[in-house]
Amino acid sequence: MTGRDHIPVLLDESLTLLDAGRPGVYIDGTLGLAGHSREILKRNPGARLVGFDRDEAALAEAQRRLSPYQNRIALYHADFRRLLEVEIDWASVRGVFLDLGMSSFQLDDPARGFSHQLDGPLDMRMDRRQHLDAARVIDKYPEARLADIFRNYGELRPAAKLARTIASRRRMTKIESTVQLRTIVEEVCRWIPQKGKTHPAAKVFQALRIEVNEELAGLREFLESVIARLPEDGRLAVISFHSLEDRIVKHTFLQAARPDQETGRRPAQVELLTKHPVVPGEAEISRNSRSRSAKLRAVRKQAHGS
Ligand SMILES: C[S@@+](CC[C@H](N)C(=O)[O-])C[C@H]1O[C@@H](n2cnc3c(N)ncnc32)[C@H](O)[C@@H]1O
Repeated sequence: MTGRDHIPVLLDESLTLLDAGRPGVYIDGTLGLAGHSREILKRNPGARLVGFDRDEAALAEAQRRLSPYQNRIALYHADFRRLLEVEIDWASVRGVFLDLGMSSFQLDDPARGFSHQLDGPLDMRMDRRQHLDAARVIDKYPEARLADIFRNYGELRPAAKLARTIASRRRMTKIESTVQLRTIVEEVCRWIPQKGKTHPAAKVFQALRIEVNEELAGLREFLESVIARLPEDGRLAVISFHSLEDRIVKHTFLQAARPDQETGRRPAQVELLTKHPVVPGEAEISRNSRSRSAKLRAVRKQAHGS
C-alpha cells in the first residue's frame, strides 16, 4: 500500500476536538500513514508536529507523506510511551492525539502476520527490534498463561480449550504460521462461516497482538502524565478500537474530570469534550469498514487544573 488510498478514521471529528486550527505544537503518538497529522499540517500553517511510531516501515511512509512540511515536523521511531523522554515545549502544545492499534499498512502485509486471513509468519510485532513475537508466545508460554491471554485480551469463550489444544499440538509440530493457528482455532471453536458472524480467529489474533505489543501496559499512566503536562486549553484525543483500550481511556478521562474526592482541594484537571464516545456514521463505515469499531474520546485541560 502506498498510502494514496489511505482513509484516516474520524478525521474531521478528531481535528475539531483537537481544535487543530490554533497555531502551536501537536503531538501524534501513532503516526501510521500520517493521515491525521498531514491534515493538521495542511490545514494549519501555524502547526508544528511531533510524531511517533514504533513501526519503522510506518514511520518511513509517514516521513515520505509529510515531506512537504519538513521544516515543521520532528518524527521519532519510538513508542509514544517514551514521549516524556523527548524535549518538548509543553507550553506550546495545543493537542495530543492517539489513534491506537494497527494501520491497514500493517494488517494488509502478510509478512507481518497480523491478519488471520492472509498466510504468513506468526510475527505481529509492531516494532521489529523487539525479541518477542507471536510465534514465541504460542511456542513458549505455559498453557495457563495462553488461556489467560485468550480470555482476557480476546474475550474468547473456549480460551482454556484452545490453550490446551495448542499445548498438545506444539509438542508434535511447530506452530509458526497464521494459517496453522487459524486452522486450530476453527477446529476448537467448530467454526462454520455465517454471514455477520466474526471469525473466532479475529479474537485470538487480537489477544496475541495485545500481548506481543504490550498494548494496554502503561496506557493509563501515559494519559495521566499528558494531562498533567498539557497547558490550559490543551486537548487530548484518543481513538480506540477495542473495549479493553476504550475502558482505560474512558476511566482515566472520567477520573481527571472529577475534583479530588478525598481532599476536595484539587479541582478537576480537565473538561470532558465527549460525554459519549464519538463513533463513525454509516457513510464512513461503508467507505471504510475498518472504522466500524472506532471510538473517539477527548478532554480539554482546565485553567486551574495545571
Ligand atoms: C491506526 S494506526 C494510525 C493511523 C494514522 N492516524 C493515520 O491516519 O494514518 C496506528 C499506528 O500506531 C502505531 N502504534 C501503535 N501503538 C504504538 C505505540 N505504543 N507507540 C508508537 N506507535 C504505536 C502503529 O505502529 C500504527 O502505525
